Amino acid sequence: MGLIPEDVIQQVIDRTNIVELIASYIPLKKTGGNYKALCPFHNEKTPSFVVTPHKQIFHCFGCHEGGNALGFVMKHERLGFAEAVRLLAGRAGVMIPESDPAVRVKDDLRQRIFQANEAVVEYYHRNLVAGKEPEVKLARDYLKSRSIDLDCVKRFRIGYAYDAWDGAAAELRQKGFSAEEILKSGLVVPREKSQGYYDRFRGRVIFPIFDYRDRALAFGARALKKDDKAKYINSPETVLYTKGQHLYGLNWAKDAIVREDAVIVVEGYMDLIRPVLAGIGNVVASLGTALTVDHVRLIRRYTRNIIMLFDMDTAGQAATLRSLDTLLEEDMNVRVAALADDEDPDSFILKDGAEAFRGRIKQAISLFDFKLSRLTAAHNAHTIEGRAVICQEMLPTIDKIPSEVVRDGYVRELASRLHIPEDAVAKERRRLGGMAVAARPRVEQDHLNSGRAVHQQVSGRKELSPEESLLLKLMLAEPKWVAEARAVILPEDLRDDVIRRIVAKVYEVFDKEKQVGVAALVNLFDDGAVRSIITRLAQDDLVLNDQKRMFADCVRSIKGFSRKAERQRLRDAMSAAEKAGDWDAVRGFQEQFNRIIKG
Ligand code: CTP
Ligand code: MN
Repeated sequence: MGLIPEDVIQQVIDRTNIVELIASYIPLKKTGGNYKALCPFHNEKTPSFVVTPHKQIFHCFGCHEGGNALGFVMKHERLGFAEAVRLLAGRAGVMIPESDPAVRVKDDLRQRIFQANEAVVEYYHRNLVAGKEPEVKLARDYLKSRSIDLDCVKRFRIGYAYDAWDGAAAELRQKGFSAEEILKSGLVVPREKSQGYYDRFRGRVIFPIFDYRDRALAFGARALKKDDKAKYINSPETVLYTKGQHLYGLNWAKDAIVREDAVIVVEGYMDLIRPVLAGIGNVVASLGTALTVDHVRLIRRYTRNIIMLFDMDTAGQAATLRSLDTLLEEDMNVRVAALADDEDPDSFILKDGAEAFRGRIKQAISLFDFKLSRLTAAHNAHTIEGRAVICQEMLPTIDKIPSEVVRDGYVRELASRLHIPEDAVAKERRRLGGMAVAARPRVEQDHLNSGRAVHQQVSGRKELSPEESLLLKLMLAEPKWVAEARAVILPEDLRDDVIRRIVAKVYEVFDKEKQVGVAALVNLFDDGAVRSIITRLAQDDLVLNDQKRMFADCVRSIKGFSRKAERQRLRDAMSAAEKAGDWDAVRGFQEQFNRIIKG
């Protein structure tokens, strides 16, 4: 924070209407002076997400998430602070002067690498579409053999990398990219024994990977020949690309995902391209990795319904199963569709057609059924031991489902499918319950819970002191209470350390500006728990005629507490000084003490 000038940030917030902004993401419903919605940050059936136009803030009474327009964009688009300011600045037409050289360099580098990638997408694509060399002909023949025609090549911006050491690199140099930019793009490999670098991708068909905003992030490169050692070579991690954080095809799929309210997750480039060509648009590819929490959070902006379509070879099943628990914990509704062992979506659609594929999607079974059928295939459910194993494997998965109702339903279902009494399963569940949670590695838990951490921090801490939070509430409602409080209450008088920090800032802002905007105040805190307290307290409006009395009550009791605390502090100090035989100090404390009880 603070790297973009404060006044520019303020300008960006001032020029953004939070209602319009949030309405561009989720449907808002007007209720009185506020707007309500189903919270986009947690799963709920009745709206507890409130947007308050006159304060330009939002607050969710369900998950305690709260903030201003910037906070909303950061959370929803998963952007950093500066990125969010830039996005809103773009919307609002505010120019951002770059002052800090470090930020400028880093941002410029990202921008430059987006540009380099874009240039190379074009370059590879041009090679494939217009190249006359025999190797290009081979590449086109290869694609033809895989039923990829020119339209498809254009639609997915597929390209070809010449079998040369200096193709993409030369193109980038010619376009004016520096050696550093070229190296950091990941498009080249640095030489080991000498200076310089050579093309990473050679003699391969290129699939560019875009982010959801169509910006080229990275590349996947497929060998033409079956016997090539590496079927695919991918970009390394760069400032733009982190493995496991992006989904291939999301840029093309997002509208269809919203329309269908479901996403089909496949593994490979071709497994995405084939259904899309066949008119099934709501597909993304995880590119050979199991689904990560980051993937799920990307998807969750568009839908909660995931249909997993992973290879059902053993490795594929293992990958599917690994990702499943993550999906459940992230509160996604997951189903699994299966193809034959030796099929993937690409080969299946080519062989059996799009309708058969749609049929398989329709027949997708719940995660519960999927796991249960795998287990019943592996263990004999006709024996007691077999049933026990299946039960033990199923219960931890069931327990990851956030909804109590759904969980209980599955426990009942499990009992009936295994022909064991329900209370036996329930008992087993209680027995395993504690163990399952305790056995999970701490780091993983932290990771998975990171989205909920704020909530826990807030709800887990002790209740806010009523008089201190009411005082802050008054100050956030009307600046005149800041002026009055400023004169009688010091931040040190407050017992709650969070409220103390907030009030100190409120005073600071007030001294400078003679008013305190809640939306601006929220910005001054990085801590989600603190922001949540501000937006919650700023949320409900206070009855006007009561404010004076409320203010006086708050001040009286805070001062009372504060005097009591001060007396206690002095008494403690006095007896310590007494023990130490420091009689001068004792006298000093005694005088202070007398002053307080008179005052
Ligand atoms: N993958 C990879 N590197 C490999 C193998 C696979 O990055 N050496 C990724 C690719 O994204 C690939 C996905 O994992 O698309 C699935 O792998 P696989 O099923 O082996 O390949 P297919 O997608 O079926 O590839 P193709 O149809 O081109 O043979
Ligand atoms: Mn394939």
